[in-house]
Amino acid sequence: MVGPVKVLVTGGAGYIGSVVSAQLLAEGSQVVVLDDLSTGHRDAVPSGAGFREVSLLDPPVLAEVLAEGFDGVLHFAAKSLVGESMERPELYYRNNVVGSLNLLDAMRAAEVQRLVFSSTAATYGEPTAVPIREDAPPCPTNAYGATKLAIDAMISFECGAHRLTAASLRYFNVAGARGEQGERHGTETHLIPIVLQVALGAREAVQIYGTDYPTPDGTAVRDYIHVDDLAVAHLLALDAPAPSGPTGEHRIYNLGNGTGYSVREVIEVCREVTGHPIPAVDVGRRAGDPGVLVASSERITSSLGWHPERGLTDMVRDAWTFARSRAAMAGSAAHPA
Ligand code: UFG
Repeated sequence: MVGPVKVLVTGGAGYIGSVVSAQLLAEGSQVVVLDDLSTGHRDAVPSGAGFREVSLLDPPVLAEVLAEGFDGVLHFAAKSLVGESMERPELYYRNNVVGSLNLLDAMRAAEVQRLVFSSTAATYGEPTAVPIREDAPPCPTNAYGATKLAIDAMISFECGAHRLTAASLRYFNVAGARGEQGERHGTETHLIPIVLQVALGAREAVQIYGTDYPTPDGTAVRDYIHVDDLAVAHLLALDAPAPSGPTGEHRIYNLGNGTGYSVREVIEVCREVTGHPIPAVDVGRRAGDPGVLVASSERITSSLGWHPERGLTDMVRDAWTFARSRAAMAGSAAHPA
């Protein structure tokens, strides 16, 4: 599938889906975003993309959309808050697992044979070895990760039984922004946007969840990947050759930079980029947080030639530019000239 294609992007009004949609459009592809706007934003859908406000839990309408004809589907739409998934697992199983099953049904009926799925490092749970490779035993510690693992398995069987060729991309900690597309969660739980809210004056301090981890400075270590680097991986996965034969193939790839940064190190980079002192308060661990999560991305590098090009400072700088521009827009809306 080399060259311009017509792609359906589920969840394209969300953070990562909107960035990937923008990259696809920039490469000359035709993009239709499907989103129920439960957490996404209509104005995050890049101009140039078509838009259908449809839920994955509405099979007849989903079938109609797929019947428009697509070369492939990028599937981002999901509930993705770890804490919420433990309080309302049924919401996660219905939206994520049932929604994905409905999508696969509609794709099969419409003979759409390419899929790139947003999986997660949360499928692995507490790692037994770091960096984490794709052959590490999956053992999710929360319902969110469990639903993504269930979908990965469903996709594998679908590919083995039918002509679907799919890739599951297991993201580690995604950060940064691409111009007007960035992180705008109603409930913000992620470290970098929260730290930048402190720099913007919207919060007094950042809480550091846990200082007794077995890491050099005692705070948890994560592998941060720029959303633009992540988007490139989606385009490569979509373009990878399909096997010849009666059935397809399911490939699973981890996506990270392979470098871990502690919470304190992240806050320090945010101080350097913003010039703000960013007060931090040490508090207890957040339930379910592993100490160290770092990816081995060797498989996608050797199979698809993917290399991350942006480091943590680039991510914080781009997220900071985005956060300030959103704050300025909110300010001018609140105080029109
Ligand atoms: N943290 C703080 N203070 C905060 C917010 C976060 O100290 O206010 C810490 C967390 O405890 C963690 C680190 O910063 O150690 C990163 O936390 P994030 O919430 O930014 O990200 P997570 O590593 O918890 O979660 C990410 C994705 C999930 C995915 C998970 C996979 O956001 O969707 O990685 O492990 F499930």
